[in-house]
Amino acid sequence: MAFRRQHLLGLEGLSKEEILFLLDTAASFQEISTRDIKKVPTLRGKTVVGMFFEPSTRTRVSFEIAAKRMSADFVSLSGSVSSTAKGETLLDTARNLAAMRPDVLVIRHPASGAAHFLAERVAGCSVVNAGDGCHEHPTQALLDLLTIRERKQRLEGLVVTIVGDILHSRVARSNLYALRTLGAQVRLCGPPTLLPREFSAWADLTSDLAAAVSGADVVLVLRLQRERQSGNFLPSLDEYARYFCLTEDHLARARADVIVLHPGPLNRGVEIASSVADGPYSVILDQVANGVAVRMAVLYLLASGAREEKSETAAPARPVALSQRRSAG
Ligand code: CP
Repeated sequence: MAFRRQHLLGLEGLSKEEILFLLDTAASFQEISTRDIKKVPTLRGKTVVGMFFEPSTRTRVSFEIAAKRMSADFVSLSGSVSSTAKGETLLDTARNLAAMRPDVLVIRHPASGAAHFLAERVAGCSVVNAGDGCHEHPTQALLDLLTIRERKQRLEGLVVTIVGDILHSRVARSNLYALRTLGAQVRLCGPPTLLPREFSAWADLTSDLAAAVSGADVVLVLRLQRERQSGNFLPSLDEYARYFCLTEDHLARARADVIVLHPGPLNRGVEIASSVADGPYSVILDQVANGVAVRMAVLYLLASGAREEKSETAAPARPVALSQRRSAG
């Protein structure tokens, strides 16, 4: 098995074998971060450029650490200090960066479809989607899957409950596509206004958190995207917390060995109680640690020549308009 795609733009459309190959490659890199000298020469001479047009702590830093642990050079550009602030288009910015011959462009952008847009138009390098609007966040879902598989030794047959603002969540979308491809049963739970009915073909939908958590092997709590609540999706944060904040009482209904994930950043007391976030079922910091291994694997597979040919993209069949909803995630 080889990963033959030029880009990693989403998990929708990837095969089970491709996702498992990404996870296996990431698992093989985990050990490097436990060494005293956390560096291998694998990507020496390669260049990774991070283009972050939205705030990010975990994704940006872990891509940088991943690149450096593989001995690649990493250059980071943030929207506020780039020439986009002077009116340069995203495409012109990317083409100018591509002219400097990087091997990989990692992009986070508030517009759904931004990574696909660049992948179709920028030549000579791979593009990795580090979160595009409400669309996908593939490396986040891969690190979630790696964390789940590490704890449960499997993914197939697990009951995974995803709770929160499903509508705006690229984390939910990437996880949903991958979990279904890998044979997990997915439950989506949130207020009716934040629970797109279109997902009923992929998952069980409910607004009853107690029922959603009952018997679950895994609970993935999403960040409530406060910046996206201007559309009267919720009466108030208090009301949201009353019905959808995951507490220890809810977890008592889950399987005894349930694990709780959250992509961060946390809104403590809104979507997750501190006693849960910091409690024995939480694997939130394992997720962060696994993020480095996942990003090492992705950079390795795209930049090292491990691919046998550059012919396909990981784009879903359905293109996503740049004008689609915007969000952070
Ligand atoms: N999970 C995640 O994408 O976090 P950041 O926004 O901090 O990168």
